Amino acid sequence: MKRQSSAIASRVMILGALMMALALSGCMRGVPSDKPPIHVNPNMDSQPKYKTQGSSAFFADGSAMRTPVAGTIARGSLIATPADSAYLLGKNGAGELIKSNPRKVTMDLLSRGQERYGIFCAPCHGAVGDGKGIVVLRDKGMLPPTNYHDDRMRALPDGHYFNVISNGIRNMPGYRHQIPVADRWAIVSYVRALQRSQNAKLQDIPENLRGGVK
Ligand code: HEC
Repeated sequence: MKRQSSAIASRVMILGALMMALALSGCMRGVPSDKPPIHVNPNMDSQPKYKTQGSSAFFADGSAMRTPVAGTIARGSLIATPADSAYLLGKNGAGELIKSNPRKVTMDLLSRGQERYGIFCAPCHGAVGDGKGIVVLRDKGMLPPTNYHDDRMRALPDGHYFNVISNGIRNMPGYRHQIPVADRWAIVSYVRALQRSQNAKLQDIPENLRGGVK
């Protein structure tokens, strides 16, 4: 009997403590207050931070807001002119694919393109771009990549190639995270060179070298 009554007493005490906690935490306050309610388990809910237009004792001018570092470009504001759009997206101001490479095609650009093509494209597309890369030869289940050497591929504008490298197409993944813009254009110029080399006529070869052609 004694045991039972002490159990009841301790339950009453727990209930009382709970009510007090509730009252303290503001749940039962019922009257408006300027102060934030007591937060029993704050976890990481409130963290020190600066809010927009807040003040700060750290900076000499007393403001938490700083002027962006010179040369800062806001996200989404990189493309300001049609030339930016051509270079960064391969599209003109009206959103159409551009016909030719905005980078000046030089021997250096082609060599860079050849090197990058060998790293990023040849494993699938093959060294000459016929779609017979080592990956496809070994993995019979893989969808064969497009052969670059037909009329449809030759007729496509440079901007299309840039777009395919950047964003992928159908089953091909995009490579914009791996290949910087400048290198993508270098690869485009090299793919164009491959297309010419695989579709060359005797007249394309300097006369003095034609004798060596088999
Ligand atoms: C992992 C293998 C793989 C790699 C690496 C790869 N491609 Fe492809 N590519 C494909 C496949 C597969 C297709 C065909 C996709 C389809 O038709 O579904 C394709 C299609 C294409 C096309 C045809 C687009 C069209 O208009 O039909 C172009 C151009 C192309 N790739 C360029 C490149 C270039 C340039 C690189 C290197 C930066 C590259 N690819 C790297 C697998 C690859």
